[in-house]
Amino acid sequence: MNSPHATAQVRVRRAELSDLDDLVALEDATFDSDRMSRAQYRRHLDSDTAQVLVASANHRNFLGTAVVFLRRNHGVARLYSIASKPEARGKGVGTALVEAAEAFARQRRCRVLRLEVRSDNHSAMRLYERLGYHRIGFLAGYYEDGSDAWRYEKRLA
Ligand SMILES: CC(C)(COP(=O)(O)OP(=O)(O)OC[C@H]1O[C@@H](n2cnc3c(N)ncnc32)[C@H](O)[C@@H]1OP(=O)(O)O)[C@@H](O)C(=O)NCCC(=O)NCCS
Repeated sequence: MNSPHATAQVRVRRAELSDLDDLVALEDATFDSDRMSRAQYRRHLDSDTAQVLVASANHRNFLGTAVVFLRRNHGVARLYSIASKPEARGKGVGTALVEAAEAFARQRRCRVLRLEVRSDNHSAMRLYERLGYHRIGFLAGYYEDGSDAWRYEKRLA
């Protein structure tokens, strides 16, 4: 990824079956609600309308993940989930994942990438705003635990 923030070692690739343990462990360690299960990850690996991305320092060193969903003939892709390992944060992994999600959405002819973020998740909102996302709506009680969300979007060139 050619991000000014990305460390030289960060690479983003499509997830494989062998990533499942890392994906589920990071999901469980990161999110308290609205978690994706192993079975859901497994299904998304083979789906034509989903892309599970993995950031790694090399093929074996898992640093983070992002999940993108597409709807057929819709033109709007959704960044459903993103997380980097706690010890890898602030080093450009999140940036590289968002940029890879955008590249995937563009490749699939989407003109917009949308996402939702908890209204108290300031580090994630800073990341999205730095990358050109803007707020398009407030979603009260959006998450399973009752938290509110902001919906953001970016028009893809
Ligand atoms: C949100 C999240 C994915 C960001 O991931 P990350 O890997 O820390 O992202 P980056 O490193 O690209 O960017 C984070 C910050 O580090 C800075 N940074 C990036 N590369 C850097 C580098 N090489 N050296 C120093 N700082 C750097 C960025 O400028 C950014 O700062 P900012 O937030 O003030 O803009 C991560 O914090 C996370 O997993 N959080 C928990 C899950 C979560 O909240 N997910 C979002 C749900 S919507």
